[in-house]
Amino acid sequence: MTNPRPTTNNVGIPVASDDESLTAGTQGPVLLHDHYLIEKLAHFNRERVPERVVHAKGGGAFGELVVTGDVSAYTKAKLFQPGAKTESLVRFSTVAGEQGSPDTWRDPRGFAVKFYTEDGNYDLVGNNTPVFFVKDPIKFPDFIHSQKRLPGSGLRDHTMQWDFWTLRPESAHQVTWLMGDRGIPRTWRHMDGFGSHTYQWVNAAGERFWVKYHFKTNQGIEFLTQDEADRLAGTDPDYHRADLHDAIERGEFPSWTLKVQIMPVAEAEGYRFNPFDLTKVWSQRDYPLIEVGTWTLNRNPRNFFAEIEQAAFAPSNIVPGIGLSPDKMLLGRVFSYADAHRYRIGANHAQLPVNAPRNEVNSYSKDGAMRYSFNDPGTPVYAPNSFGGPHADPQAAGDEGLWEFGTEAVRAGYVRHAEDDDFGQAGTLVREVLDDAARERLVGNIVGHILGGTAAALYERIFEYWSNVDADLGKKVEEGVRAGRA
Ligand code: HEM
Repeated sequence: MTNPRPTTNNVGIPVASDDESLTAGTQGPVLLHDHYLIEKLAHFNRERVPERVVHAKGGGAFGELVVTGDVSAYTKAKLFQPGAKTESLVRFSTVAGEQGSPDTWRDPRGFAVKFYTEDGNYDLVGNNTPVFFVKDPIKFPDFIHSQKRLPGSGLRDHTMQWDFWTLRPESAHQVTWLMGDRGIPRTWRHMDGFGSHTYQWVNAAGERFWVKYHFKTNQGIEFLTQDEADRLAGTDPDYHRADLHDAIERGEFPSWTLKVQIMPVAEAEGYRFNPFDLTKVWSQRDYPLIEVGTWTLNRNPRNFFAEIEQAAFAPSNIVPGIGLSPDKMLLGRVFSYADAHRYRIGANHAQLPVNAPRNEVNSYSKDGAMRYSFNDPGTPVYAPNSFGGPHADPQAAGDEGLWEFGTEAVRAGYVRHAEDDDFGQAGTLVREVLDDAARERLVGNIVGHILGGTAAALYERIFEYWSNVDADLGKKVEEGVRAGRA
């Protein structure tokens, strides 16, 4: 009987058995050359990536944002223009619990949203609360240690939690949220989401605004009592994950209305709260909510590991029209997440389908473990180059660093001191450190390297470069190259 679909190993070779290992006789040892058995056991050992250091337990879904309002006066970001429709991914989570921990433990809920925009991926990595426990990133690891487990017993410990919170009174606002009803939402569908930080929006005219994001649930806010939550923790630890999955399977697509608060930049300095302090909100009387659009979840992941566990959300993923702010926590997070992804998933995590942008990638990054996509072989792998490679474009770029608050964030390099320039110290090395023989070898090395396949079109610039280092060296390099070419 023919088998139309034989089992194969990972490289497509049909395998003999999923029932019996290869042994030397019926009682003999298992043979090392049963490579299919070896592959099976070895791959099994590598099924996990490290769980997220925080927010390890969660679940998610895909959906879309449809813009119904008009906020174009405040941002040029394409995803927020009137009528725009953008594919999206969300991952909801608890913070302190591990992968298998119950969904109904009291904790803030992560509310991490990815938008696959025309200008690259925009990630809004927020929570179901508008504030946070601390306001400086240097406190974050200590805060998390206090919420996790004791090093000796491996047990969670309320003493640590309260010790930390009370020694850090700035936590009071968030702990109040946490200890209240919002600390255990009934389901993920029944909670709001917040960008929490103050971000920046930039409009087409280059005008800037401070902005806070609010996702208002259209299912209504509902919560669990402590007793309900405790019971579910025992009987149905995946209660929230299952609820979202099942609702979407039933065709009951949960939705949220995305709204923003906008603060004109000029008002920030005089506002009664520091608008960049993550332990504070802006009063909605001062800055009322403005509708942006409807965000709906309508598709479950087809593979939880590939699409949710390996999903990588990073506050550094911001697109043109959106910027950062002087919120120190936000600035700390801008480092932290991509770093976590390199460790947790790998250097090429952005190439996985769930993390890959829908637009073209023209990056100069190269190689690395598990590289899958690459540029056309003719594309240069360094910048700047003379061969038509992509150019960085400040006009088209994100608006991550632009604010005036005390001092301005700039990309201007080092402050220039009296003797700073690009070539001065190289010239000193050639003239004052090297002896004659070393200078000769230097010339020979340079000439040999240039003649080893460098395009002649670059020669003039290379000669000028070396002449800028040292006139005599430049002359000798030029002579050597011309002689070698002759
Ligand atoms: C996850 C660091 C504050 C929301 C994470 C992860 C790290 C991290 C390393 C794991 C990322 C991964 O492995 O994929 C930090 C640091 C913070 C900070 C250093 C402060 C300086 C915050 C704040 C919020 C937040 C203020 C919300 C407003 C989240 C969410 C996730 C997460 C939602 C889970 C993302 C996902 O579902 O993949 N954080 N965090 N974090 N963090 Fe933070």
